[in-house]
Amino acid sequence: MRWQGLLREYREYLPVNDHTPMLTLNEGNTPLIRLDHLSEEWGIDLHVKVEGVNPTGSFKDRGMVMAVAKAKEEGSDTVICASTGNTSASAAAYAARAGMRCIVVIPDGKIAMGKLAQAVMYGASIVSIEGNFDEALKMVRFISENEPVTLVNSVNPYRLEGQKTAAFEICDQLGGAPEILAIPVGNAGNISAYWKGFKEYDAIKQTGLPRMFGFEAEGAAAIVQGKPIEQPETIATAIRIGNPASWNLAVAARDESAGTIDFVTDEEILQAYSKLASTEGIFAEPGSCASLAGIHKLLKQGGIPRGSRIVAVLTGNGLKDPSTAIDISTISPVLLPNDERIVSEHIRGVVRQ
Ligand code: F0G
Repeated sequence: MRWQGLLREYREYLPVNDHTPMLTLNEGNTPLIRLDHLSEEWGIDLHVKVEGVNPTGSFKDRGMVMAVAKAKEEGSDTVICASTGNTSASAAAYAARAGMRCIVVIPDGKIAMGKLAQAVMYGASIVSIEGNFDEALKMVRFISENEPVTLVNSVNPYRLEGQKTAAFEICDQLGGAPEILAIPVGNAGNISAYWKGFKEYDAIKQTGLPRMFGFEAEGAAAIVQGKPIEQPETIATAIRIGNPASWNLAVAARDESAGTIDFVTDEEILQAYSKLASTEGIFAEPGSCASLAGIHKLLKQGGIPRGSRIVAVLTGNGLKDPSTAIDISTISPVLLPNDERIVSEHIRGVVRQ
């Protein structure tokens, strides 16, 4: 039967009642793809959960459909969020769909182009501040306590409820939980949501529990360092966050699952980003690839047994951030005259290589 979106498909697991609007853009039901080449090269059984195929191109849609539906149910007409880009794109889309206003506060100049284009097109009111995500989040938390607007960052508990459904899907697609779940960590909501999802599904369906492996970017590794980072910096702007709101939940997920939270360098992120696209045909945004980069790092250190069944979450679509792709690419188009003979000659050379 046709997929009906998260609120209908997982109604019994979610805070949905008869008054909840059945909002949907057909989010969820994303593919789990086995990485055959990397599995072979790295000696593990590696799969990726491709969240970039969600309606606005990231996992945020799972949480946002729930949070915006509940805001609407409660009579709110405006949602607000701080964002490194994906949350704002998703909030703007679901607000448009629900007939609500959306206000987003973003760090000026640190939002990937595709994400900004989305917020503009979905009709959000956009406030760009000369500050970082953590400062923007502090502002919208304060504003939402004093104005009639609903905060839809992941401190809104409905966000984690929606996002936990990805763990359900992985268990169904794999026939049980993997041994290791690798995931990028920014504001630390998603790792917390996955852990909640795995625990709930296991309690009902005995699907087992993974070890949770979270990865922060080196320049924004607050949890790894055990202290907030005042000026977080990383090429992976999605996770350029220095004081994660769900810090305690993430640490609990790590400890309860016998997992780890580690960091990866920008270089390691970009290497995983290129390798994933060129060897497996999957284009995920840089922040997403912290999960894959982290797996590679721990494998090299001997921290992961060979043969382990691993799912790495790819949180956002590569098209979100075309500038990074173009900037790091070593391949550029060959400019030739509009002449069949010359073009044919060039192509013959490529085929013979
Ligand atoms: N990956 C991507 C592509 C993201 O956009 C984010 C967070 C994360 C990973 C980290 O998830 O915050 O739950 O630990 N992006 C937020 C935003 C902060 O505003 O779009 P997290």
